[in-house]
Amino acid sequence: MRTELIAANWKMNLRRDTAVDLARAVRHAAEGGAKKREVLLAPPAPYLGPVREALVGSAILLAGQDVSAHEDGAFTGELSAEMLLDEGCRFSIIGHSERREHGGESDELIGRKVRRAFDVGLGAILCVGEKEDERLRGHERKVVERQLRAALENVQKEEADRLLTVAYEPVWAIGTGRTATPKDAAVMHRFIRDWVGGRFGAATAEAIRILYGGSVKPSNAADLLQSPEIDGALVGGASLKADSFSAILSA
Ligand code: PGA
Repeated sequence: MRTELIAANWKMNLRRDTAVDLARAVRHAAEGGAKKREVLLAPPAPYLGPVREALVGSAILLAGQDVSAHEDGAFTGELSAEMLLDEGCRFSIIGHSERREHGGESDELIGRKVRRAFDVGLGAILCVGEKEDERLRGHERKVVERQLRAALENVQKEEADRLLTVAYEPVWAIGTGRTATPKDAAVMHRFIRDWVGGRFGAATAEAIRILYGGSVKPSNAADLLQSPEIDGALVGGASLKADSFSAILSA
């Protein structure tokens, strides 16, 4: 049985005070909630410390929003996997479509980031998903398969079992208010799970969590999360307000 994970991607938002206030409010909601779900926050990197302090003693997980493919060295502006571990992160988001799009990240680079994270025991929330024109041409499976293959090329089964979470995030649904229907999302989640099964075996496919992301909000969270194929959510915009994120946690 997979435990659902509700992950907040705060992106480049909030300030130290508002980030800490929001972390406290999420903690309050998560600890009071009836649902047995894991909760994860991915704050902007400078606020990892203050947010971690606000979460001391709670079960809420911390994550980076990105990680470098490199070890220490002359890589101005980058954050290494070890730094994220030092700051209390168990995971990093890797391959988010905004990094693919605005940061020009290739499938190959994302594969190296996953490799680097796993080398030091940092978990990955690996984001995959097709763009609108790719879906209109019926290429969504082809695109997601290419992304999975490149990202997980050098990953062993034991690492996938221990460290991998996948997030299916159709690019046309991110920040647009448009969401994949639970049925469409479930079809893609099944496809991803089958692919993982082919690559790592049936037990890994059964155990791995596949989150849905793309305009998840209080009004659609329950419908999405009730699908047995959907093991949680990666939430952007609606994670920035305590009331909307709390409503998703209890959806
Ligand atoms: P959104 O973002 O919920 O604002 O669509 C999701 C994401 O980018 O992970």
